[in-house]
Amino acid sequence: MVSLLQLSFSGGDTVIAEYCDALSDALSDFAPAWRESVDGLSRQRLIKSPHGDMPRWQAGVEALPDVAARVNADRGCVTLTSAAPLDVVSQVAAPLRQLMPWRKGPFDFFGVHIDTEWRSDWKWDRIAPHISDLSGRTVLDVGCGSAYHCWRMAAAGAHAVLGVDPTLLYLFQYLAVRRYAAQLPVWFAPVRMEEMPTGASSFDTVFSMGVLYHRRSPLDHLLELFSALKPGGELVLETLVVDGDVQTVLMPEDRYASMRNVYFLPSVAMLERWLLRCGFIDVRTIDVSLTTTDEQRATNWMTFQSLSDFLCEDNPQLTVEGYPAPCRAALIARRPLR
Ligand SMILES: C[S@@+](CC[C@H](N)C(=O)[O-])C[C@H]1O[C@@H](n2cnc3c(N)ncnc32)[C@H](O)[C@@H]1O
Repeated sequence: MVSLLQLSFSGGDTVIAEYCDALSDALSDFAPAWRESVDGLSRQRLIKSPHGDMPRWQAGVEALPDVAARVNADRGCVTLTSAAPLDVVSQVAAPLRQLMPWRKGPFDFFGVHIDTEWRSDWKWDRIAPHISDLSGRTVLDVGCGSAYHCWRMAAAGAHAVLGVDPTLLYLFQYLAVRRYAAQLPVWFAPVRMEEMPTGASSFDTVFSMGVLYHRRSPLDHLLELFSALKPGGELVLETLVVDGDVQTVLMPEDRYASMRNVYFLPSVAMLERWLLRCGFIDVRTIDVSLTTTDEQRATNWMTFQSLSDFLCEDNPQLTVEGYPAPCRAALIARRPLR
């Protein structure tokens, strides 16, 4: 449990500019090779050419109550508590609903439970027992979504955690938590991994979870992850896989489970080979799990279609397109010391 005072939160543009300044300062400390690119892209996307929905998202974050809070990210639900009396419906739930859809979590803001589309805590529980202790480590979480796992990584003792994700709504979901947890060393950069300069070698652990299948060039993604790691650093890779041998990879003709941007689903054996061909060593598969409709489902906080709508009605082992239903593998690998 960490005791924290809230950030001062007055005026959206000021808040965003101050966040960009703070992010830039933090990167100078733990990822200097990325500071300039992150700073330029963040200011471009957040200040110079902001997304049309940004005023609503900013208003949601700003409408959250000014109270001293404590954050607990040690357990499945990242939880904020406060001793201040609050009308949770109007002061907490209403602003948070402006940040919908909430996909990755769960979170609890002062008694308002955000039942997200994904039980992201289940993924963390499958992976956390196998990774190197995060204490004191500098961590990158590529495609961090709402930053749910970043808060868990900080609670596990990381020295600094940087989440990168180009989806701006997720930045505001992160800022909603950060408003009460600014002393935790968690940062969010609204950028794509491939926009970052190669050769940073800044991170002790790099996570890429749920991203590889979105990349048209998966080997380039693995090489980017490699070059972000310090020599000797650890990669945690999680992605969709299919059954098959070392020669097997599925490329959907168009959509996969209704998702438009899915490219390569390798077998576990082929994925291990990709990692080895990209220079990683000590490659091991730590988990292979079918995704269930208990782990990914529509909720009050994500009211669009979800996994049950993307599976074949007559045979839930297939997607609506007739491909094998989602199955995810988690692998750990290491960048050699030299
Ligand atoms: C399926 S979600 C996974 C979220 C989280 N890592 C998890 O495992 O629960 C994929 C995320 O990757 C982000 N993403 C997609 N392409 C990316 C890229 N090129 N660089 C960084 N993030 C990316 C998306 O915006 C999305 O939030």
